[in-house]
Amino acid sequence: MSKLPGNAGVSLLGDKSMDFYRDPVSFCRQRVDKHRCRVFQSRLLNRPTVFICSVRAMRELLCEKSNIFLKDPTDLMTNMYGDTVVTTNGEEACLLRLSLCNLFEGHCLQSSRDYITSVCERHLKSLSTSGQPECIYSAFKYLSTELVLGLFLNVKAEEQPELFQKIMQLCTQHWHGLISAPVNVKVPLWSSGFSTALEAREKLMQIIMDKLENDKHGFVGSLSSLPLPNSSSAAQHLLLFISALIPKALASLLTSFTLALSGNHQVDTRLQAIDDLDYLHRVLLEVQRLWPPFIGGRRIADQDSTIAGFHVPKDYGAVYISHAVHRDPEVFQQPDSFLPDRWSGRNAGQEHFLCSFGNGSRNCIGAKLTDIFLKETCTYLLKHYTWSLEPPSQDLEYKWLPVSRPANLPTLTFTPLNQGKRSGEENSSGC
Ligand code: HEM
Repeated sequence: MSKLPGNAGVSLLGDKSMDFYRDPVSFCRQRVDKHRCRVFQSRLLNRPTVFICSVRAMRELLCEKSNIFLKDPTDLMTNMYGDTVVTTNGEEACLLRLSLCNLFEGHCLQSSRDYITSVCERHLKSLSTSGQPECIYSAFKYLSTELVLGLFLNVKAEEQPELFQKIMQLCTQHWHGLISAPVNVKVPLWSSGFSTALEAREKLMQIIMDKLENDKHGFVGSLSSLPLPNSSSAAQHLLLFISALIPKALASLLTSFTLALSGNHQVDTRLQAIDDLDYLHRVLLEVQRLWPPFIGGRRIADQDSTIAGFHVPKDYGAVYISHAVHRDPEVFQQPDSFLPDRWSGRNAGQEHFLCSFGNGSRNCIGAKLTDIFLKETCTYLLKHYTWSLEPPSQDLEYKWLPVSRPANLPTLTFTPLNQGKRSGEENSSGC
């Protein structure tokens, strides 16, 4: 058994959390290059941690050894959302997943379709009306918030605009607390982001409890009738599902899709994606491969073990870095290039080598719902518009935390397609 490349440093002084959170992609790239290995150690959150940047090691962590590398119950997520499936382990996690997955499958999922279609249409039909360039990330985040609050809480923006705005504002305050230091300080005229977040959480929980008691329809109704471990479990899960995290992740993917397919040089890609749903699927796989919304996930070793043949002691942290896993040259040739056809060629049938939605027994329970929503939105855009950056030259350098998106929010113009014409045909001279 070999020793992990790199150095886990000494307590506090050797901690590299700041370096990692400042620029996680460069942090990993530098170390992968230095150690010539896609698995290495460093110190994160003041804990010796193995960083996983290869497909094979990611699968080992999340699939084969998921009973050794466990979720951290003291994670910040527990602080903000309470006890949810996200930070639970063992039998309790299995039972929770069994219950919750029902809400994201079969009949429940199908009954969401009409609402998804109506929200997409209402938002996207006005993309070109202002005549001004659109800040797409913000537009997609608003659209996704409407989706989430309507689906999970039965609060629809067009029916209850004030309540909708109030919840959206509370979710934002709650979110800002999640990413601020967990210090609950409150003095007159000043309160830390974290204590404001806790107040927002209280108000959100009141709204959620009221819904769970009085609304017997849709997702809320089904959730309140599930066999969950205790009376607050349904409310805490709803808090998680309506949190700002999910709209941000959806907006991240939609922004990356729109940017990848913008401009005249992508006319053919857009045309093919309108007519061929399988091709659109491959485009979206390539979008999540190159620009996964979340940088990755974290586990703790419950006993001594190995990853990629390296010794990993008990209590070590283990993080998989989606961005790096998805660019593992052993699996993805020309890893930095946007090549949707790789998914019908060399990488056909290898979707399980991605980890944008996690992997293995603790993968994302909302992945199918997300897939439906993304395809509905992307198909609407492709059928109704051609689009390009405005101004044409913008700094599109990505930041990766808290979700991936260009650091400077990009703006685009959307031009309606003439009836009978398809995306970009009027510009197919390639000017
Ligand atoms: C673009 C949208 C989304 C992305 C990128 C995403 C990503 C992820 C990832 C990476 C994980 C695994 C985390 C880990 O390994 O530690 C995960 C887990 C999870 N996701 Fe999602 N997710 C999305 C949408 C959703 C939606 C719409 C829901 C439900 C409303 C949802 C609910 C969950 C839950 C409950 C888990 C925890 C599962 C468990 O621990 O067993 N996600 N998601």
